[in-house]
Amino acid sequence: METVVSGIRSTGKLHLGNYYGAIKNFIKMQNEYNCYFFIADLHSLTTHPTPENLHDNVKQVVVEYLAAGIDPEKATIYVQSDVPEVIELYLYLNMNAYLGELERATSFKDKVRANPDNVNAGLLTYPVLMAADILLHKATKVPVGKDQEQHLEMTRTFGNRFNRMYKHDYFPEAYAFSYSDNLIKIPGLDGKGKMGKSEGDANCIYLSDEPVAIRKKVMRAVTDSGPTQENQPKPTEIQNLFDLMKVVSSSDTIQHFDDLYNSCQIRYGDLKKQLAEDMVIATEPVRSRIEEIAADKEYIKKIVNLGAEKARESARKTLRDVREIIGFKKF
Ligand code: TRP
Repeated sequence: METVVSGIRSTGKLHLGNYYGAIKNFIKMQNEYNCYFFIADLHSLTTHPTPENLHDNVKQVVVEYLAAGIDPEKATIYVQSDVPEVIELYLYLNMNAYLGELERATSFKDKVRANPDNVNAGLLTYPVLMAADILLHKATKVPVGKDQEQHLEMTRTFGNRFNRMYKHDYFPEAYAFSYSDNLIKIPGLDGKGKMGKSEGDANCIYLSDEPVAIRKKVMRAVTDSGPTQENQPKPTEIQNLFDLMKVVSSSDTIQHFDDLYNSCQIRYGDLKKQLAEDMVIATEPVRSRIEEIAADKEYIKKIVNLGAEKARESARKTLRDVREIIGFKKF
């Protein structure tokens, strides 16, 4: 059976973009593959969380993974820092990761531009740690968004370089995976790009948002002054609302508002009200489970410990092989 690895950086609450873009795929994949889903808390250190935030953020993602339907009986759910083998593999891979290629990574360049006063070495070698996450379990499929494509290419480069250097066909190649050809787009509410935490809380619907919060945010979503000609194309901010409807509303509802738009009779207030209600309904099962699971400390502890054990078993085996291949020997 093929092995799947994916991680989400623990930088706070999960939103609809995470849910429809990533977690929905995880839930399907757990029935078909040997899956490892982890919380990337080591990666989160590049932005220097406080000790309190670090732990709370990890807990939040564990709870939301479980609430969203990742099943610990089917998939291995673990916290990255519980598996120290990944740090050792990261060190070995770093010896053959070159400054030039790391500096050329788009994500690195973006982060340097966004935070020029925090260009730390961890940021530079972020793709090496990500490669270690994937190679640790010798995964071949990685469910991630388009923005991670370059990191996967670097993962293949590092794995192949290791294989070539030690003349061992050890690490397999990992490729991005999605069930649909065109990756689902979850726009934010600000009328611009995709839903994301860095665009601010008002732009995001979180899985843990209460119905009042959802309604308030949706009602404030950016719109225009309305269509003036029949069948005119929708501007981005209006298309975004229809795109969101595509994931939470029925096709009848979408058709209804599409017809109203095309005949210039649409009232955006009605559309937003409907969209908000459909979002409330779509997120309700996850939201209620978030509260339930968050309150059950023993359960969380059990799941995290079990996941760490399973992940370490796989990691230990890889590191045993890797050390031998590199040439470490016991005296
Ligand atoms: N870089 C990924 C992101 O920002 C998170 C991540 C870290 C990851 N390690 C990974 C994803 C390994 C898949 C596999 O979204």
